[in-house]
Amino acid sequence: MITLGIETSCDETAAAILEDGKVLSSEVSSSVHLHSRYGGVIPEIASRFHTEFICPVFEKALHDAGKRVEDIDRIAVTEGPGLPGSLLVGLAFAKALSFARTLPILGVNHLHGHMAASTIRDGVKLPLSGIMPFIGVVVSGGHTSIFECRELGKFREIGRTRDDAAGEAFDKVSKILDLGYPGGPLVEEKARGYDGDDPIPFARPLLKDEESLDFSFSGIKTAALYYWRDSSRSEEEKEKVCFSFQNAIIDTLVEKVYRATRLTGIKRVAVGGGVVNNTLFRQRMTERREKEDVELYLPEKRYCSDNAVMIAAYAEELFDAGVRSDLTLNAKPLG
Ligand code: KG4
Ligand code: ZN
Repeated sequence: MITLGIETSCDETAAAILEDGKVLSSEVSSSVHLHSRYGGVIPEIASRFHTEFICPVFEKALHDAGKRVEDIDRIAVTEGPGLPGSLLVGLAFAKALSFARTLPILGVNHLHGHMAASTIRDGVKLPLSGIMPFIGVVVSGGHTSIFECRELGKFREIGRTRDDAAGEAFDKVSKILDLGYPGGPLVEEKARGYDGDDPIPFARPLLKDEESLDFSFSGIKTAALYYWRDSSRSEEEKEKVCFSFQNAIIDTLVEKVYRATRLTGIKRVAVGGGVVNNTLFRQRMTERREKEDVELYLPEKRYCSDNAVMIAAYAEELFDAGVRSDLTLNAKPLG
């Protein structure tokens, strides 16, 4: 079975073709360069970019897979959460194709897609149902959430950020330090330059409450702002802020994820989202995994940020389980 995946929830226009769990192609075109001077995604610009690029991105994905439109058996498309205008472009495209070719269509939750990306290895997907039950974690620019996943399609959120998402905090600190957008990779790079031994002791919020799986990152961001404002603003200070900030965020993330495994008794963890690109986060998660004897699934770096492979990969499982949408499918900006 050939599954087409379409993802347009934020600033990436993406299409992918999967055949029975194998990735045949993945095309991603990002409008991030158009947003960088504003320090964040401008929804109207993102929607216009999707409108312009959805057809060429789809055609390129088909071409790279060596397939024709007639070969597609079913269509998966992100229905939310995400920017309404962005989601609607992908949905309109997917619904039009479904109608024109009488193909089954399925709306996929973007966060579930991020988790599904964690089990793809060398272009082959291991079904999420094969690792059930697991703790699902999404750490991105829009979300920081922990899910208890015991049944396909029915994931229960057991922790979430009360304010900023982790990636959003990286982006804001990057803006404060005038590093650019998106901030994650830039803050990570600067943090690497710090070789001092007196990092700033930023608080690790909500760690003391032993039961809480929630996050709060806006306090660390504000503390970084005040520290920077009152500092000499030298290059070393910049590296120190990045290093200390990154550590505070990552300590909190790692601690809460493994806390979730202890509180639920579930010993498998599947993580996804743009922040999983972060090398220190990957290292810390892996080191801790060995101590706690937990099975850990981290996506390959190419599938951490938004892509359509993750949408098609998760949809294959749902389609096979008989799940379908219809042409009343609409955007769910809040998920
Ligand atoms: O999953 P994603 O591509 O889009 C959303 O669904 O939000 O995540 C984008 C986020 C941005 O906030 C970006 O700064 C962050 O992921 N990010 C990183 C790194 N690479 C991307 N954060 C920390 N370290 C990185 N290396
Ligand atoms: Zn995402």
